[in-house]
Amino acid sequence: MSDIKTRIIRDAKELSRFAKQAHYDHKTIGLVPTMGYLHEGHLSLIRAAREKCGVVIVSDFVNPTQFGPKEDYATYPRDEQADYDKVQSCQADVLFIPGVDDLYPNGQDSTWVEVNRLGSILCGASRPGHFRGVTTVVTKLLLLSQADYAFFGEKDYQQLTILRRMVQDLGCPTEIVPMPLVREHDGLALSSRNVRLSPEARLQALSLNRGLKKARAMFQAGCRKADDLIGEAQAEIAIQPDAEIQYISIADPDTLDLFLDKVPDRAIMLLAVKVGGVRLIDNMHLD
Ligand code: PAF
Repeated sequence: MSDIKTRIIRDAKELSRFAKQAHYDHKTIGLVPTMGYLHEGHLSLIRAAREKCGVVIVSDFVNPTQFGPKEDYATYPRDEQADYDKVQSCQADVLFIPGVDDLYPNGQDSTWVEVNRLGSILCGASRPGHFRGVTTVVTKLLLLSQADYAFFGEKDYQQLTILRRMVQDLGCPTEIVPMPLVREHDGLALSSRNVRLSPEARLQALSLNRGLKKARAMFQAGCRKADDLIGEAQAEIAIQPDAEIQYISIADPDTLDLFLDKVPDRAIMLLAVKVGGVRLIDNMHLD
């Protein structure tokens, strides 16, 4: 493949024109939506899009509507030049960096897209409005990019499940492509927020993966009691001095229906924990 020079597009209408031309040229379009500060997990999505699609668009937009008033929108890590270099190294065609006004021309007086029940459980319970912000911005990005495929990581498992439901409910022609969660060598799930962990908190954060693995081992040894499996993970995490567990739950991997008592043979454990003030999520299939 010849070397591609990634083009930066900041204007929403220009992205639409680019996408229209790509479809006119019979190219499939792959979209990788991100909030920037790209890490190896994002790059695995971009590489998968590059393999599968004729044209690859990466969006880099810290979406204000998915942050609560007390959350870290203002301090969310940003580095546009580093993002560009990484996107270029993965040979994406376009890096789309819109302004807030481009995606929300009417400010908060916006049209919202909301997936009801799925958006209010797990992370949605402690972050009201978060998933409404995600589904709204992803809808806008899908429409602007006219994507045939959109790539999302399983690290944000609830987000992925909600977006699959959203495209199904809306009859949206884009196929959602799930990609495996990527971990550091020591098991910490990759996240842009990891840079905000102090060395001490980072060490404590490894308990999330350890807890999940212990619960999975117990499940694989035959335990099917939700309380015992959750207790196993909880015991590993709760002893960390700076860990504040928001939830540890076991759910159906397709519907996210929670298992409160007996766990069937196919299940996923999901958790959210604040470690040293940094909110981390992780998950693991138990089967
Ligand atoms: O997963 C993320 O980075 C964001 O939630 C997304 C999908 C880019 C929407 O802002």
